Amino acid sequence: RRYSSCMDAKDLGDELSKILVTEEQLRTRLAEMARQIEADYPADRPPLLVGVLKGAVMVMADLARELRFHAEMDWMAVSSYGASTKSSGVVRILKDLDTALEGRDVLIVEDIIDSGLTLAWLKENLESRGAKSVRICTMLRKPDAAKVEVDVAYVGFDIPTDFVVGYGLDYAERYRNLRDVGVLAPHVYAGED
Ligand code: XMP
Ligand code: MG
Repeated sequence: RRYSSCMDAKDLGDELSKILVTEEQLRTRLAEMARQIEADYPADRPPLLVGVLKGAVMVMADLARELRFHAEMDWMAVSSYGASTKSSGVVRILKDLDTALEGRDVLIVEDIIDSGLTLAWLKENLESRGAKSVRICTMLRKPDAAKVEVDVAYVGFDIPTDFVVGYGLDYAERYRNLRDVGVLAPHVYAGED
């Protein structure tokens, strides 16, 4: 198979059942979210951005460059489930922050909120370290999949409960570098479970 200069949905044949959010829509919405974030924090006290690996890498890179303040970044890796498409609610820290959080305003940067279990756990975990405030920014949210209530300050797009890939989101580590967000065709993960 031949690839174009960047990974494009049209190179994926029938692996996606539809494009849900285009690169262009992501960029436009991210700029709006950045303006909102800038307005919500005092100019001399910008938040520490905490990205959740690996999915939030694209959102973090784009959001941080859109923000008009010095965006300090740190990263955590947590695992709620491995290569599967279903959440278990069991959260494990695979990589912790390098930054002490006492007195800091923290903005968690996420790719997607599904059941909310991961974020609810993470928010509480960061608060317990003495952060002054912990807010959540997510590019995507699946409102109909919520199992716990999580207060999310900044949401890019509310989407249906289908499993999506692209813009950092993977299925078995594939599709992360797709520039749009698409619905993964069920035949790609058929047979799982
Ligand atoms: P919960 O259910 O805890 O899940 O809110 C959050 C994490 O689950 C992953 N996730 C997805 N990954 N496509 C993906 O590639 C999806 O549709 C999807 N839904 C949830 C993701 O890692 C997220 O951080
Ligand atoms: Mg994943």
